[in-house]
Amino acid sequence: MNIAIDGPSGAGKSTLAKLLAKELNITYLDTGAMYRALALKACNENVPLSDEKAIEELISRTSIDVLPGENGSIVFLDGKDVSNDIRQHKISKMASDISAIKCVRIYMVDLQRKIAFARDSVLDGRDIGTVVLPNADHKFYLTASVEVRAERRYKELVARGEKCDKAQIKDDIEKRDHNDMHRQFSPLKKADDAIEIDSSYMTVNQVMNKMLDIIKGRK
Ligand code: DC
Repeated sequence: MNIAIDGPSGAGKSTLAKLLAKELNITYLDTGAMYRALALKACNENVPLSDEKAIEELISRTSIDVLPGENGSIVFLDGKDVSNDIRQHKISKMASDISAIKCVRIYMVDLQRKIAFARDSVLDGRDIGTVVLPNADHKFYLTASVEVRAERRYKELVARGEKCDKAQIKDDIEKRDHNDMHRQFSPLKKADDAIEIDSSYMTVNQVMNKMLDIIKGRK
């Protein structure tokens, strides 16, 4: 069984994907973390994101592994656990930029399909229902208002001890939405057969129960 959860940043995809994976006892794959890991490497090595050849070369000497952990996915970049480093605010923007590059998408989609075809899994991202797994058994498109998403991201960053400004975060989220929705390759969009859920005024449990009802055919 494969479950696809797509939607903009901060809509609650990874929280729900983790919970569903646990409840259904299947693998959770955080595909955004994979783009973040590559962005981190480009950042550490000062590789300009405008140089597609350099990015292609970077990919050729990069290994990214995502393994299930207690609290979601553990992400390894060239064998090193970078699960924490990839959550930095500056890496969010870089991940969005790097994910627009064609060779990056080809590499990631291939990797994600290999993982998903090998086991029952729930994947969250931007193009799972449209490109990575168009035949997924269940597809969800999770959204929330930009205000609610900015508030959630703000709390998350504060909890991580990062200094941040709420208005700036809202602005960054809007820019990232625009980037992700308007890029040429695999832009973020709802698959025709995905079920849309607006989580703005729902608790995590309410969203989770709604998804489980659909998956288990109770509604
Ligand atoms: O879900 P996230 O915020 O960790 O993802 C980081 C960036 O990666 C996001 O801005 C867009 C990109 N991404 C993508 O293009 N396709 C995916 N399947 C997952 C993430």
